Amino acid sequence: MSQSSFAIRLIDIHKSFGTQAVLRGVNLDVERGATTVICGESGQGKSVLLKHILGLLTSDRGKVLVEGEDISRLRGAALNHLRTRFGVLFQGVALFDSMTVFDNIALPLRERSRLSEPEVKVKVEKSLQMMDLEDSAEKFPGQLSGGMKKRVGLARALQLEPDILLFDEPTTGLDPVKSHDVYQLFFATQKRLGYTSVIVSHDIPKIFNLADKIAILHEGQVRACMAPAELQRSQDPFVRDFIIRVMGRAYRSSYEFDSVE
Ligand SMILES: Nc1ncnc2c1ncn2[C@@H]1O[C@H](COP(=O)(O)OP(=O)(O)O)[C@@H](O)[C@H]1O
Ligand SMILES: [Mg+2]
Repeated sequence: MSQSSFAIRLIDIHKSFGTQAVLRGVNLDVERGATTVICGESGQGKSVLLKHILGLLTSDRGKVLVEGEDISRLRGAALNHLRTRFGVLFQGVALFDSMTVFDNIALPLRERSRLSEPEVKVKVEKSLQMMDLEDSAEKFPGQLSGGMKKRVGLARALQLEPDILLFDEPTTGLDPVKSHDVYQLFFATQKRLGYTSVIVSHDIPKIFNLADKIAILHEGQVRACMAPAELQRSQDPFVRDFIIRVMGRAYRSSYEFDSVE
């Protein structure tokens, strides 16, 4: 394992599809145990970037280091092994509609661990409690609200105790209040369990103050990566414009911080 304080390092990543250059020299260091939010307008390559971290796409140039290992060079068992360190929660959540909440959450344990059924039960019940879902264990996804589904998805992503959690626009389809609740839960859970988390989001106003670092992906590069307070004060004209555009003019001069605690 690497001694670096970075769980993930993207070094000069280039990726084109045909003639379309999507990533044009992305550099990004993701701190271990922290939450990094990647934001940027639609179509800027945020999902493509996340797929490079998972080794689902291979860059044309550059390196993706996960815990010091170049994921693009790994194949077969070594790649699968590294991937077991990731938990993933993508837009659609993709719960199995014919399975109960309990069974959805138990699935990774039943498929990928050697735990006995009683051990699975203990673990799943603990997660249900943590996510405030105890009363919904026997419900089916169709009977749940959008926010509850996201919580089930998060519980499932956490079952194999990943070191790194990747979220791709996890609150898509939720109203603003619900998605704020979901983010609060993500951050509170991250603080409790201490994993490294990377969240891709275009709706940064809701999570701006909850992240440790915000990276802005624009025209194929990470144009800024800093703590929310720094971003808010930044004199960089690009950053200033971006913040005013997504957060509104008043925000830049205010210093209100919501607390997760
Ligand atoms: N597998 C692919 N083949 C071809 N083009 C792709 C592929 N994946 C993504 N793209 C293109 O790359 C660009 C960035 O996509 P994406 O990462 O999904 O954007 P974002 O997540 O920031 O909204 C888009 O123009 C998209 O059409
Ligand atoms: Mg996307």
